[in-house]
Amino acid sequence: MNIAIFNAHESDVRRYGRTFPVLLDSAAGPRVFDVTGRGYLDFILGSGALNYGHNHPAIKSALQEYLARDSILLSLDMYTEAKARFISEMVTGILGPRSFDYKIQFPGPTGTNANEAAMALVRKVTGRPTIFAFSNSFHGMSLGSLCVSGSESTRDLGGIAKHDVVRLPYDGFISPDFPSQDYLECIVTKPGAGVDLPAAIILETIQAEGGLNTASVSFLRSVERICRENGILLIVDDIQAGSGRTGSFFSFEEAGITPDIVTLSKSLSGLGIPLSVVLIRPEFDIWKPGEHSGTFRGNNMAFVTGAAALSLWRDDGFLDQVSWLTLEMDTRLDQLCKAFPDHITSRKGRGLMCGVEVAPSINARDVIASAFARGLILESSGPDRQVLKVFAPLTIEKEALDDAFGILTESFEEVIHEG
Ligand SMILES: Cc1ncc(COP(=O)(O)O)c(C=O)c1O
Repeated sequence: MNIAIFNAHESDVRRYGRTFPVLLDSAAGPRVFDVTGRGYLDFILGSGALNYGHNHPAIKSALQEYLARDSILLSLDMYTEAKARFISEMVTGILGPRSFDYKIQFPGPTGTNANEAAMALVRKVTGRPTIFAFSNSFHGMSLGSLCVSGSESTRDLGGIAKHDVVRLPYDGFISPDFPSQDYLECIVTKPGAGVDLPAAIILETIQAEGGLNTASVSFLRSVERICRENGILLIVDDIQAGSGRTGSFFSFEEAGITPDIVTLSKSLSGLGIPLSVVLIRPEFDIWKPGEHSGTFRGNNMAFVTGAAALSLWRDDGFLDQVSWLTLEMDTRLDQLCKAFPDHITSRKGRGLMCGVEVAPSINARDVIASAFARGLILESSGPDRQVLKVFAPLTIEKEALDDAFGILTESFEEVIHEG
């Protein structure tokens, strides 16, 4: 087998395979291996879906044990032992310690399924059609999620009018000092603003695909207050920023807010198996039985691996590792910025959801190509794709981190030298 088959038969829509044209075969921890046995450090991690690294031993063995018997694999929303364990782990290990009493909806397997369900629910709860969404947001590829996404290329898709969305400037979008929360409060409360009260506001606390733009604590608290005071529901899309990417399980813990609805997916299953949930404050769980569905909402393999992944958040060794890594990434990204002051504009993101903005003097795409040739897989985001996402697996060890930052430094040096 070689990659010619993809060029001949796979749709032109494919993207990553063009940038990284190797035939991948196996993966362990921070590394993926191609069929020749060459290893690459993977700092894309399924776009944030493999926070625990590839084939985490405890998560994988839970699935192996489950598969070794004739366990039930697909069950719609029937009751299964695997789902009971997942819910129990979510309630006792994650929600309870944080004093959250969310009900858990299983909508369908992907992130966009969760956002669609969340938006349908807030419209049903409030009887209002409009949703406020932010500049540079990305919420998924199905039509409702496209409508609330800010990215131009995403919004160009769909081919139909994108109704019932009012776009707001995200924190820092207009300028570092522009108070977007004041603008929000103004259009919600001032007579004559000409904007109908929305059902909800949907936001990412850090905009993953939008270029790792980070909402401040004060912005998030203001948005929560404005929502509460005006009967607007707050949806936090924690699909990429949640499940530990920022260093805490939920990305909004630092701000101390309690969104009305939280959507999770990506790293929720821990092993890269599709799984998503909608966490709903109990008073808003007004679904009628069967009113929302999805064939793959009963993916028991994902429940098994998800429960194993969630249980890591009760393991002191794992928590110490995450704290260590958070400090390491902070120091190392600082050093990278200092090493290339003319070619890196700024640090981006927060916690382990981090990266750097590459200055217009060089092209992030060239840094990615150079890093790949040296054995590091990276991607960029943002409207002009100049923000390098430096996503380490939460489980990475010092040696692999040294390798990754060594490669990053050499790649910048090469691109700058050639430019
Ligand atoms: C913040 C956010 N929301 C939603 C999605 C969509 O998730 P999925 O691709 O699983 O539908 C993504 C995917 O990148 C995302 O980053």
